[in-house]
Amino acid sequence: MMQFQSPLLAPSILAADYTRLGQQIKTCIDSGIEWIHCDIMDGHFVPNISYGPAIVKAANRSADAFLDVHLMIENPAQYIHSFVESGADLITVHQEACPHLHRTIQQIKEHDIGAGVAVNPSTPLQHILPIVEYVDLVLIMSVNPGFGGQQFIESTYKKIKDLAVMRRTEKADFLIEVDGGVGFSNIKKVAAAGADVLVAGSAVFKSDNIPQRIKELTQKAKAGKSTFV
Ligand code: DX5
Ligand code: ZN
Repeated sequence: MMQFQSPLLAPSILAADYTRLGQQIKTCIDSGIEWIHCDIMDGHFVPNISYGPAIVKAANRSADAFLDVHLMIENPAQYIHSFVESGADLITVHQEACPHLHRTIQQIKEHDIGAGVAVNPSTPLQHILPIVEYVDLVLIMSVNPGFGGQQFIESTYKKIKDLAVMRRTEKADFLIEVDGGVGFSNIKKVAAAGADVLVAGSAVFKSDNIPQRIKELTQKAKAGKSTFV
């Protein structure tokens, strides 16, 4: 999987203006963004439907970005191939949606792309302990999945710190990604807690100056990361 400098801001196109999606992705890339976060929702695992492989394919065509695909869907194993075909560079599945999580992670890795596991706010980290050695990324949901623009759940800070401890004790090297409600007021503290990849949808795309907002968020994330031990 590609190496990159932590912390990294990953705009979620869930919040983008779909009438000019390609242009907005290009604006992010031109502003120094390397990762684009794609939130896939099926209306079953989460109470909302977002978009599918066709939009990931369009994102892949519109710029040279690392596509970080977050599957908030039931039976994710059934769809891995189509998201790989659409250009996914990393696929994250929810622990809560995978009865055979180890097999699903292996299935993703067979495609030579990154494999991630996500946990909802009420899911203990212990539930993913058996597979952390196999994944490239652990995504901590800091909101209940399904919608952008929600309030960051404060107990997430401790969960991020606990995950960083787990990574050390397990001698694992996965990235810590935090997704949901990350913005100007909390991104420094999220990075300081140990996040490597910070997903931001509304904070980026609902601003009236995307390049300026990306610069500000990145600066704050770096300031926070510099205090992480
Ligand atoms: C929730 C989604 C959102 C999205 C980010 O299911 O995963 O967390 O990525 O949304 P904002 O940054 O607007 O909270
Ligand atoms: Zn997401």
